[in-house]
Amino acid sequence: MKDVHFDTSTVHAGGHNNVKSVSKVKPIYQTSAFSFSDLDDLEDYFRGKNDFLYTRMNNPNQDDFARGVAQLEKAPAGVVTSSGISAILVGILSVAQSGDHIVACEDLYGGTYQLLSDDLKSFGIETSFVSFNDVNEIEKSIRPNTKLLYSESVTNPLLRVEDLGALVGLAKKHRLTTMIDNTFATPFVLQPYTQGVDLVVHSATKYLNGHSDVTAGVVVGSEELIAKAKSKMTHLGCNLGPFDAWLASRGLKTLSVRMERHVANAKALAGELNGTKGIKKVYYPEFVSEKGNGAIVTIELDDSSDVHTFFKSLDWVHIVPTLAGVETTVSYPLGTSHRSLPADMCETLGINKNVIRISVGIENAEDIIEVFKKASQTALGL
Ligand SMILES: Cc1ncc(COP(=O)(O)O)c(C=O)c1O
Repeated sequence: MKDVHFDTSTVHAGGHNNVKSVSKVKPIYQTSAFSFSDLDDLEDYFRGKNDFLYTRMNNPNQDDFARGVAQLEKAPAGVVTSSGISAILVGILSVAQSGDHIVACEDLYGGTYQLLSDDLKSFGIETSFVSFNDVNEIEKSIRPNTKLLYSESVTNPLLRVEDLGALVGLAKKHRLTTMIDNTFATPFVLQPYTQGVDLVVHSATKYLNGHSDVTAGVVVGSEELIAKAKSKMTHLGCNLGPFDAWLASRGLKTLSVRMERHVANAKALAGELNGTKGIKKVYYPEFVSEKGNGAIVTIELDDSSDVHTFFKSLDWVHIVPTLAGVETTVSYPLGTSHRSLPADMCETLGINKNVIRISVGIENAEDIIEVFKKASQTALGL
């Protein structure tokens, strides 16, 4: 810059971005837009020669995270969004519009239930919620305007394992799209795209990031479906901020080592709590994949246990309405994640006042087990 006034200098202090060296770690592109040297340069973006224009549309940090998750899920493409719920929204809107119908499993995360039963309904997209235990039940709910079968690979909070093969088979028979929320399993345990599922969605807020410091979502699938989801993400403004995308990519690097410990600890805890006095039932899947059964253990306390005392006796384990951080935490589905489900639906599903969801962390397994065993005893008044 030549001679300019002081106030102009302050605006341009430090100069334009001109770093040529390659940093070891991808920089954070904390910018809302990208700049162009001339109109030809700008036009090159629309000719596909320049990658980035405006962060609501795309940004190198968003692309990194999307590419990373798509690779881990073995899918051709991915798009990241501002949250798990916006990932579900853009995924659904890439296949369904007003007048269309969805068949979803009834034991869904409460926020997804609310999105489908309330918000999407008001956009003219109707959903039937049915038990996915029986493929015939699902088939009976399919209508001429059905576009999508929606479920979770391992359901929240009672950990039913979806029969993906049966679901994909049914979808093929009726030319429907399948969409699976793989948040609980993670691609470490299960890769639904490799089993024929069309769209795989994650609350990246959970294990993919893994440190409870980002809210993010991601959908992966074919280039064609993801291009549609990406355009919905852009038009609805569901983009993920560059710093959050950068943090999520950093979290993803340790997914495998974190999951190994999470899964081993969960297996150990589930085994120990089974048959423990004061615990009526332990929900932990028998088999999700040869990599393990996930890291959530859900328990139902005995009717004679006091649930308030149980929560109060958990020492260093805190009540947190999320999951998948490195710290062990507990949540109360009836009071948080599944609060929006109708009471009779919760009752039928078995989500009652004694159900507690444990997100097993990566601490030492013995310490985790001790905390829960002690709390079970105290809750019984022992
Ligand atoms: C299984 C599942 N899917 C989706 C979501 C929504 O994710 P987010 O809170 O990142 O929007 C959650 C949130 O708890 C979840 O548990």
